[in-house]
Amino acid sequence: MEITNVSEYEPIAKEKLPKMVYDYYASGAEDQWTLKENREAFFQDSRFSLVYTRPYWLQDGRPCWMVGNLGGRYLARFRPRILIDVSKIDMTTTILGFKISMPIMIAPTAMQKMAHPEGEYATARAASSAGTIMTLSSWATSSVEEVASTGPGIRFFQLYVYRDRNVVAQLVRRAERAGFKAIALTVDTPRLGRREADIKNRFTLPPFLTLKNFEGLDLGKMDKSDDSGLASYVAGQIDRTLSWKDVKWLQSITSLPILVKGVLTAEDASLAIQNKAAGIIVSNHGARQLDYVPATITALEEVVGAARGRVPVFLDGGVRRGTDVFKALALGASGVFIGRPVLFSLAAEGEAGVRKVLKLLRDEFELTMALSGCISLKDITRNHIITPAEAKHSISRL
Ligand code: FNR
Repeated sequence: MEITNVSEYEPIAKEKLPKMVYDYYASGAEDQWTLKENREAFFQDSRFSLVYTRPYWLQDGRPCWMVGNLGGRYLARFRPRILIDVSKIDMTTTILGFKISMPIMIAPTAMQKMAHPEGEYATARAASSAGTIMTLSSWATSSVEEVASTGPGIRFFQLYVYRDRNVVAQLVRRAERAGFKAIALTVDTPRLGRREADIKNRFTLPPFLTLKNFEGLDLGKMDKSDDSGLASYVAGQIDRTLSWKDVKWLQSITSLPILVKGVLTAEDASLAIQNKAAGIIVSNHGARQLDYVPATITALEEVVGAARGRVPVFLDGGVRRGTDVFKALALGASGVFIGRPVLFSLAAEGEAGVRKVLKLLRDEFELTMALSGCISLKDITRNHIITPAEAKHSISRL
């Protein structure tokens, strides 16, 4: 079957993967409300639409009432501009000083060799050939050194802070030496969210794989447990005491810029900046941690407002279309990251699949820019979209 959008990889991955693996990749926490919301906030759910009436006048001067539907529960609609020369579109951008081909990057997702034998190597190569950034998970099934050996590329390293700080310090040093350019510090996981499919499946890392970054430290294996093996691993190893003072500690052991991944409020955005974060990632961990947090796209503007342009703000969660990328940028994001589309395409077609996902999103985003009259990222403004609240307001002024 010809793949024409990134979501089409998911059913293929579901068919190919063992149930335990597919469920681990696909699931969210508890009721999975936020999982659905992350995606749906980008478009309309007509069950919640607002109906309006407004008068207009027929040619003979008689009044008439028009009934319309504003839609109550969607993020934004476009306000495209026309008759702008869009024969050349520039999607390039600079992230923390590194020039990349487009504002679409790869989020850290754990254990990619469960999806495909090439795992993180394939993802690294695909990102590099697309000219964009890959973020490698702490819990990758390939080490920082192995991923670096795949060739050149701009890469970030995602960090989970273990109780044993020597382990963390060693790992950060290795990531630095392997040429990683930034640390994405995940701050939403002092404990693992309750992912019920993983509990039912007794999820554990298959015995032929290891969490490669921790192999030499005796922390690379995951024991079987009578619920989720990953939840038990996290409970045993991850530092629940993590706080802002540890961001300072991290800065004392590395000169790499630190992105705080998992911010959803203005308050925490301000604290991140006070604590010298180089950037903020608005993320709810792909809806795998606290259920009933808002869709990231609806939390974005609050965080952007608090950041006041002092540091770049990024977004991940539910990005599946070029139009989604455009909406995030119009609301002030400097770029987006994608998680599951990489895993599902990797499962379906390995490196070629991940390349295809990046190309599909790139092409869709380019088309969205052209049809909105934007020829470079700086042309994308808040005026290119309208939210339901704004639409309601402008109708009431008619
Ligand atoms: C993740 N995510 C994640 N985040 C992180 O900081 N470290 C990690 O190891 C992982 N691992 C992981 C595994 C799987 C299977 C998923 C689905 C997600 C979260 C990830 O970085 C990102 O926030 C979300 O995946 C973004 O949402 P979408 O694009 O998957 O909707």
